[in-house]
Amino acid sequence: MPDNQKQHWDHIYNTKAEDEVSWFQSYPKTSMEFVEMFNLPLDANIIDIGGGDSHFADALLDKGYQNIWVLDLSAAAIEKAKQRLGENASKVHWIVSDVTDFEPPVPFHFWHDRAAFHFLTTEEKIYRYVAIGEEAIAKDGYLVLGTFSENGPKKCSGLEIKQYSETSMSARFEVAFNRIKCIQEDHTTPFNTVQNFLFSSFQRK
Ligand SMILES: C[S@@+](CC[C@H](N)C(=O)[O-])C[C@H]1O[C@@H](n2cnc3c(N)ncnc32)[C@H](O)[C@@H]1O
Repeated sequence: MPDNQKQHWDHIYNTKAEDEVSWFQSYPKTSMEFVEMFNLPLDANIIDIGGGDSHFADALLDKGYQNIWVLDLSAAAIEKAKQRLGENASKVHWIVSDVTDFEPPVPFHFWHDRAAFHFLTTEEKIYRYVAIGEEAIAKDGYLVLGTFSENGPKKCSGLEIKQYSETSMSARFEVAFNRIKCIQEDHTTPFNTVQNFLFSSFQRK
């Protein structure tokens, strides 16, 4: 990935408050509903890909999860999340990396990605993401991807994104995963605009 992507995200996180970005959620309700549905044990390895400054890690810590990982391209995003979490930041494993360069240190039981995968717009990058996910996610482990749907925006944060449908998402992952369910959800941004997301869930074969 060119450096300017990293610079783009560092600039966003260094200059905007958390509720000044379109993807802000005070509580990641849909993501946590998947956690409950999967009935994951508290020692499950859970990773938030492109987690940025999301409150997903906070919500997992509140539930008592002990092995939480957050990966993001932007060091500024990770620093901001750590500051917000304060003492609890030491309970999370933080990784600054492009997901397409990620070398998974442990098998993951839940791989969560809200609004990062859709920034990969080349076949090469998408292929690498899928291959890394296949390697990283344990047998019977879960994958949840939140992307813009075909009814959603065509850009996010000024960058081109790739929209997904249930069919196009399943086609990407069906070799190594069984689809569980896909749901569409309207996200209301802090600016009162609406973005249609597709949340797709899978289980590793
Ligand atoms: C729209 S934000 C979503 C943040 C968070 N998932 C949430 O729901 O609040 C996209 C995030 O993906 C990260 N990102 C973009 N491309 C990435 C890549 N190739 N590897 C890792 N992180 C990436 C950005 O730095 C940013 O934090």
